[in-house]
This record gives sequence, structure tokens and C-alpha cells, in this order.
Amino acid sequence: MLLQLSTWQETEAYLKQSTGIIIPIGSTEQHGPMGFIGTDAICPQRVAEELSNRTDIMVAPTLHYGMSQHHLEFPGSVTLRPTTLIAMIKDIIYSLARHGFTHFYFLNGHGGNVDSLKAAFSEIYSEASLNAESSPLHCSIVGWYEGKRVSALEEKYFGDANGSHATPSELSLSFYVHPEAAKSAKMDPEIPPEGDFRDAADYRKQYPDGRIGSNSGLATAEIGAELCEGAVEDVMESYQEFLS
Ligand code: NI
Repeated sequence: MLLQLSTWQETEAYLKQSTGIIIPIGSTEQHGPMGFIGTDAICPQRVAEELSNRTDIMVAPTLHYGMSQHHLEFPGSVTLRPTTLIAMIKDIIYSLARHGFTHFYFLNGHGGNVDSLKAAFSEIYSEASLNAESSPLHCSIVGWYEGKRVSALEEKYFGDANGSHATPSELSLSFYVHPEAAKSAKMDPEIPPEGDFRDAADYRKQYPDGRIGSNSGLATAEIGAELCEGAVEDVMESYQEFLS
């Protein structure tokens, strides 16, 4: 079920059988010379939509902006400050909690969101603790790429060339979703360095074309189809575990 295409009566009925919801979250940021700026939102959204087609799990609208300050030297990248993202996540959770949702599973496409989401969850739990209440809310953030099936496919097709940003894995999935927009480019060097970064200027200096440790050129829509299937199964298991 997609929240966006449901009525309030359907949502009320859903809440009688489940109080869990999946909320896809990504970012709007550069993904190297071949990757879509929307990659991190496109991937978890597709996995969540597939799950929604096959089950009766409620899926909320995708959050397309995230914490991407380190990408701001590249045109088209947009960031929310950590404090903005924390405030937004709290407002979304509290809004849905008001109607009876208790289990919030954020299906993530962007590593840069994790710290802020965990801080938002801590804020919510802190408010209950400081009021000497027991919170009924359970919050979790899981990357679509974290499960065993996706990891095995990444290892099989890309190995060490998967890297950590603009990975052929995420590009493959996004090309599967949008074959009409898939791109190619010469990767020079084939595999750029892997490492850490601070702000946007530091990032651009160290990773001039935007990639970190990844050979984006290995991405194909065909592998993306397999990754999507693996991710749907991984997330299904992980969500059921979260609910129980
Ligand atoms: Ni990404």
C-alpha cells in the first residue's frame, strides 16, 4: 500500500492490522560522471514500491533530500543541515504516531543520513525518558544495500571496485529503474581513491569527479534488476524482524 495513493479511511483500516510503515529516504547529490543526482532516492523508492506491490505493507512518500553537505561543490547537489533533517524526521514520526503508527522503518539510500536519523530517534526516546513515560515508538534506519543478498551480488559482480560513493551497485539499480536516462562515461582513473573527507571543498579536492573508490563504469541495468530482487527479499526479512 502506498500512503500517497490511499485515502484516510484506508489508512485507518490499515492501522487496525498493522502499525508499521516503511519510509524511503535518499538525497539529492552528485553521483560522479555517470550517476543520477537522484540515485539515493530512486533506489530505496523502487525497492519499497516493489515490496508494496507484493505485500500489504504501508509505504510513505519518499524523502528526496538528505544530509549531503560534502557534495555541495558539485552543481545540483542540495543538502539539509543535520539539525533541519533531525527536525523533519521528528515531525514526520510524530505526525504518523498521532494516528497510531508505532514502527518506523526508514529504508535508506544514503550513508550521510544515518547520523542525523539516529540523532532524531534519540531525541524522540529522550523526550519519553525525561517525561518518565514508556515510548511505544520503535525507529530504525536500514540501507537497501545492507542485506546479505545484495552484498553477495556486489561481491560477485564488482568486488573491490564497488567502492563507497557512486557505486556500480547503486548506479545499476537506478539504471534498471530509469533505462531511458542511463549514461556512460570514461572512468579516469578506473578506480579512484577510497577514504574520508570533511567539508565540500575538501571532498572535491580529494575526489575531483565525485566518486569514492568506485568503478561506476561497471554498472548495468541487468545487474540492477538482480540487485532489486535481492534487496526486496533482504528488506522483507529485515522489516519482519523489526516488527517482531
Ligand atoms: Ni549514493
